[in-house]
Amino acid sequence: VMEGSATNSHGTDDPLSKLPTREGWSEPLVLYKNYWLRPRFAATIMRLQNTFEARHDDIVLATNPKCGTTWIKALAFTITNRSRYEFGNHPLLFRHPQEVVPFLEIPRDGDMTYVETLPSPRLLATHMPLSLFPDSLASCGCRTVYVCRDPKDALVSWWHFKSKVIRERSVDFEAAVNMFSEGFSNYGPFWEHCLEYWRESVACPNRILFLKYEDMMLEPIKYVIRLATFLGVPFSIKEEEDGIPEEVVRLCSFDKLSSLDTNQTGDQVRIGNLIIEKSVFFRKGKVGDWVNHMSQEMGRKLDCIVEEKLKGTDLVL
Ligand code: A3P
Repeated sequence: VMEGSATNSHGTDDPLSKLPTREGWSEPLVLYKNYWLRPRFAATIMRLQNTFEARHDDIVLATNPKCGTTWIKALAFTITNRSRYEFGNHPLLFRHPQEVVPFLEIPRDGDMTYVETLPSPRLLATHMPLSLFPDSLASCGCRTVYVCRDPKDALVSWWHFKSKVIRERSVDFEAAVNMFSEGFSNYGPFWEHCLEYWRESVACPNRILFLKYEDMMLEPIKYVIRLATFLGVPFSIKEEEDGIPEEVVRLCSFDKLSSLDTNQTGDQVRIGNLIIEKSVFFRKGKVGDWVNHMSQEMGRKLDCIVEEKLKGTDLVL
């Protein structure tokens, strides 16, 4: 870890340059308040602290990268907009889930004011750790849904994503596992990210709903019903009789979304300044795919590290 110099090449004060930097991934990460971030996002997160105006009816969808962001975006969008759209002619049949819910810390076309123009109630996604939320968001009492996932599957998913997005395998897989295990990964330490949201969800269950990808895969209808209730738009008895929760599950399922022409073709989604092929967000959508990429021994080692880090808490990842 090297300390940066306090001024940048223009001689002006640059808060980023004061942060510890570490190389290893395709770009160096900076350590900001105990989290490893890409410099660009660290800068945006700092800026949001002073500029973001939260609304009490905002809905925040928070995840570690590759833990089910695309899925929770689709589900929350479908649930909260279900009176506006019919399933047969639904926006998700034409638009990528990543596009219907913007990321808070990834400005669209560099425009930080975009989210200010959205009508209430806003759906906003973030990979930000809870402790880095802008004060206005932390204190406005709005609802947050957090999705976590088995770190082994998240890491494997990230590895594939990176190799597709930057089109090169710049980091050896074993090195990636080692860095991840040290807590040195994008938005890492992974377990700290989960733990912050977990603690808050236990303390304030009306404010944070803590979900696991694996549970949702096992019983999607149950979790869609729970999600709707948490978001303040519970399904009516009539809706449940009419099978609306099942419709939501079906529309947002990996099989359905990944099979749509619009999500398969070379069409691209813009996330900040990155242009990413739509299909890259749909790989396998399976629980436990890590066994096809990691040895049992590597998997056990990572499990032990995570267990050790979470010792004394009742969170199990
Ligand atoms: P895999 O790489 O294991 O297949 P994120 O959306 O946070 O970037 O996470 C991407 C992961 O979620 C990928 O996992 C992807 O295949 C999976 N995924 C995408 N859409 C999904 C859906 N509708 N249901 C379940 N999993 C989905």
